[in-house]
Order: sequence, then C-alpha cells, then structure tokens
Amino acid sequence: MKSIASAPGKIILFGEHFVVHGTNALLAAIDKRVTVTSTFTENKTIKVNSELGIIEVPMSSSHEEVKSEFRPFVYLANKMINSHQDVNGLEITINSDIPIGVGLGSSSACCVAATASIFGLFKEWSSKELLKISIEAEKTIFPDTSGADCTVCTYGGMIEYPSIEKIDNTFDLNLLIANSMIPHNTKNSVEKVNKFKKNNEDRFSQLCDLENGLINKVIMAMKNNDAATLGLKMSENQKYLEEIQVSNYTLRDMISSLSEISLGSKITGAGDGGCIIALVNDENVSKVPALLGKGKECFSAKLDTKGVVWEKEK
Ligand code: PMV
Repeated sequence: MKSIASAPGKIILFGEHFVVHGTNALLAAIDKRVTVTSTFTENKTIKVNSELGIIEVPMSSSHEEVKSEFRPFVYLANKMINSHQDVNGLEITINSDIPIGVGLGSSSACCVAATASIFGLFKEWSSKELLKISIEAEKTIFPDTSGADCTVCTYGGMIEYPSIEKIDNTFDLNLLIANSMIPHNTKNSVEKVNKFKKNNEDRFSQLCDLENGLINKVIMAMKNNDAATLGLKMSENQKYLEEIQVSNYTLRDMISSLSEISLGSKITGAGDGGCIIALVNDENVSKVPALLGKGKECFSAKLDTKGVVWEKEK
C-alpha cells in the first residue's frame, strides 16, 4: 500500500521576519509542489529517498542522528512507529519541483506533504492536526519557525497569518518571482534579525507596528482592486527588510532593475539571497528577463488553491 501526499510551495507577500516576532503576515501558495510517497517495508529500517540523497537507518534511530535535511522525515516516521508495534520498516520518497533554499517554501511543503503521507499510512488526519505535526517536524531543522509557511502549504490560497483568513483577490495579480540563484539559510537570517532586534529594541518594535499597519492597508487595497497601492506597499515593506539587513547587493540590483516597469517589488522569504517578487502589468512582463540580466530565473507566480492533497493506493 502507498500513501501519497503533495503540498504546494509558497511566497510571502508581506511580513517575513517580523512574523517570527509576532506580527501578521500575508502568504500565498504557488503552483509548484512536492510529492511524498510512503510505504511499509520488511527491512527494519527507515529509508528516505530524495534529490538531496538517500539515507537508510535502523528503526530505532532518532532524528537527531541524521543530517538536518532528513530530520523531519525520521522524526515523523518515529512518531508513528513508536505507537504501532507491528511496523517492520518504512520507505519515504520525495519528489519536488520547488527550487530548494530560495524562499519558495520547499522545506515547509516537504514537512506538510510528509506528515500527510506518513500519517496517512496509519490513519485519517484533520488539517488542524496535520499542521500541528508538520510544524513540529519543521522545528527539527529550524526551531524558530513562525509556522506561517506550513500553514499556507496546508491550506493553499492566499491567507493572512495567523488568522488563516482567506484573502480573495478579484483582480489578476501578475506577480513575478525572480530567483537570484543565491541559496540562503533561513536560520542564519533569522538569527541576524534577532541580533538587530536586541541592539535596536525600540526601532524594531516600531517596525513591527508599521508592518501590521501596512498589512491592514494591503488587505483593504486587495478588496478595492487597487494594484497601485499594493505595489507601493511592497516597496515600503522592502525598506523595512533593508533596515533589518536581510537584503544584499544582488537583491537590491534586481529590484532596481525592475523599478521602471513594476508597481512594486520586494524580497520574499528570509532574504540574503533567494527570490524577489515584483508586481508587473501584463504589457511589461516580457521585458523582465532582459532587465534582470543573465544568471537569474524568473516565472509567474500562479496561485495554488488546493493546499495539501492526499490519496492512498492499494
Ligand atoms: O525560509 P524562507 O525563505 O521561506 O523564509 C521563512 C520566513 C521567515 O519569516 C524568515 C521565517 C518564518 O519562520 O516565518
């Protein structure tokens, strides 16, 4: 029997980093997915196959004994094996079309899809339970996660976090994702922001208030089909991200090269590399690759509305 689950990647429209410190955020699931397939085996091992490599460890292994990228899978497998004595082994296979380490939610989508797939072998699950466990799994790699990424990967669509309220945008957003092709490390960027907060407590608290105010205005702008305000707020949010020092020369250069044709643009995700998003009118989309120059990737962010999807095969 196979238990197969997939979950979408994501972009953060507003609120990255500040959300770790308690602000709201706006996120959208995108049409790139990770698929996790789990099966029982008789091998007395937990085996994980992914494009990052293959591991096979004894059933008694703890997640702390394996390389960090495999920890969530071993953590989830253990959780189920420990409460089901009759299991003789598990094999977990991950296939993904989400680029890794560039802020498009690859690790969260893996945690959500793996939770659904592994738990699905044993029992039915609710979205609420799935989300709770997938955040636990993500914490084995990144203990400070806000949980916002796993939330949007679970529910899909465009949501406000933490309320999980769906935001219906009636106008076509035409958000472009441009990849700097510089991998980033979320944990390091979050630690850097923690230091900034420690050294600039009052200003950081002001920035958190500004971020919340900005998100309220964005939600109004979305309701009013006001793309111009949305773009302006993206650029305003980018200023806050520059101030907390998660931008760099390459990202600034990408943003400024699109400034003439975009309504607004900003980092999406942890920054220090990874991707930017830009709000661009239809007639200007074709100009983007040339403006970004060589060595960058760029594609349209199509919204995913399904969230996590699960099926069992006999
Ligand atoms: O790992 P990324 O690039 O998708 O960024 C995560 C977003 C942060 O706000 C920086 C961290 C978090 O847990 O919300």
